[in-house]
Amino acid sequence: MGAVLKVAMPKGRIYKQASKLFREAGLTIPEDFEDSRKLIIPVPEAGMEFIMAKPVDVPTYVEYGVADIGVVGKDVLMEENKDVYELLDLGIAKCRMSVIGLPGWKPDIHPRVATKYPNVASKYFREQGQQVEVIKLNGSIELAPLIGLADRIVDMVETGQTLRENGLVEMESIFEITSRLIANRVSYRLKNAAIQALCDRLGMAVPARGGR
Ligand code: PRP
Repeated sequence: MGAVLKVAMPKGRIYKQASKLFREAGLTIPEDFEDSRKLIIPVPEAGMEFIMAKPVDVPTYVEYGVADIGVVGKDVLMEENKDVYELLDLGIAKCRMSVIGLPGWKPDIHPRVATKYPNVASKYFREQGQQVEVIKLNGSIELAPLIGLADRIVDMVETGQTLRENGLVEMESIFEITSRLIANRVSYRLKNAAIQALCDRLGMAVPARGGR
């Protein structure tokens, strides 16, 4: 195999699904480091090196070219707006971005929206012609309407369990989310054969998993 591909992989819940997909595409990804704290993992059998990144940082590593390619959720791509190529919908980690609130929600004079995705939320409400104050939080977003910080939130819904357990309702779905394969623009040219070969193998594995 030619040049080693540096792959920014998201640590956490997407990683297991991504490594499973890579294996289904015929790549030899060892299982034994999944619980390891190692951040740079050589995967010579697959001609790769994994850079284990916080999911929100994956597009940054790829944009700067310290990773040639990366696996990242569409939610992060929409929020971060980095200059990278989006090559393939991997069909994994499916969920959606939604507007959420308490059941009896009524428009407020000074509406506030809490979210981990301030760019996504601002764009959405601007397009709706609604003026809102967007408050950035870093987690447990569902707390905001429960304790009066905001009247609505913009957040990811996967199973809906968090909403149900906190008495919240999904008011509108903004877009569907799956993980994507992204590439650095220069790497895509210089390592085109390796990246294209990987894309082809992954592309064949995606429908087999019932993705998309
Ligand atoms: C995410 C998201 C929701 C939840 C949705 O939070 O922000 O809170 O998962 O999943 P569900 O529909 O299956 O309940 P995450 O677990 O990433 O933690 P966070 O609160 O730190 O954002």
